[in-house]
Amino acid sequence: MTIRELQDEIVREKRARGRLLLAHTYAKRELSEVADLTGDSFALARYAAGAQGDVVVCGVRFMAETVKLLLPERKVYLANENAGCPMAEQIEPEELAALKEEYPEAAVVAYINTSAALKAVCDVCVTSSSAEKIIARLPQKEILFVPDINLGRYLQKKLPEKTFHFVHGGCPTHLRARRADVEAARAAHPNALLLVHPECLPEVWERADYVGSTTGIMAFAKNSPAREFIIGTENTVLEHLQLDCAEKSFYPLCKDLVCHNMRLATLTDALACLRGERAEIVLDERVAKEAIRCVDAMIALGG
Ligand code: 13P
Ligand code: SF4
Repeated sequence: MTIRELQDEIVREKRARGRLLLAHTYAKRELSEVADLTGDSFALARYAAGAQGDVVVCGVRFMAETVKLLLPERKVYLANENAGCPMAEQIEPEELAALKEEYPEAAVVAYINTSAALKAVCDVCVTSSSAEKIIARLPQKEILFVPDINLGRYLQKKLPEKTFHFVHGGCPTHLRARRADVEAARAAHPNALLLVHPECLPEVWERADYVGSTTGIMAFAKNSPAREFIIGTENTVLEHLQLDCAEKSFYPLCKDLVCHNMRLATLTDALACLRGERAEIVLDERVAKEAIRCVDAMIALGG
């Protein structure tokens, strides 16, 4: 079968079965071309909550778990069940429970890139596009933020009225970009704007012209009058942008900004899930009951 034939078959199955296909911006381009929505973590969760039908998620496990938390009555599939986010499991729920005792006044805020089990012991979760707004709205001055220290430090800078506490953790993909990459890319493309994800190290986002989620980066590049951009996030974003804006030029900040987990899902995987031939996401009942508070709080505060 060709890519085109598989894509046509996916569109037919989606219509026939009334199922949704959601793709994170980092998923392969051929998947996003047939998805009902391509977007950042917050957009996927919000879209799933407002739409009908069983859902197939082309992304990593925490994204499918979040959709399942929001839609417990519906079938939810992760297109490739081996796709996990290493950051989502960097902290054990027991470790966080112990930390909560150290900071009893703090709101416990989880980046959405966490397992359902970790969300179950947090107060609210946030995505890179909703974090600043949600944390600003929390009544607590102290914030215990897990697991991404880089995003956490970025938020601390944006919200100086809050006091952040961190544990450990970060995205192994975004960590690969360094200050030397910024200097080399700036030297090679002196007229380009640098757009980066806040999961990058502070030595990278401190030097950027724009910092935001994948959706934010794409919107900025599309709406900007500038013609050249250095992209500091997973390199699939660069591919989307180059196809969407043929008249502009996009350069990778670092060739190693590749998330292999996000690239696992294929068209064949998506088709098998749409046909119900793969295992559904199943969550422990007790975990789901606790974790949904955290996701509901995100939707309520994130608007
Ligand atoms: P978002 O733009 O969805 O925050 O993407 C970052 C990411 O790493 C998702 O895993
Ligand atoms: Fe996780 Fe980083 Fe991959 Fe996103 S890019 S799924 S945070 S490892």
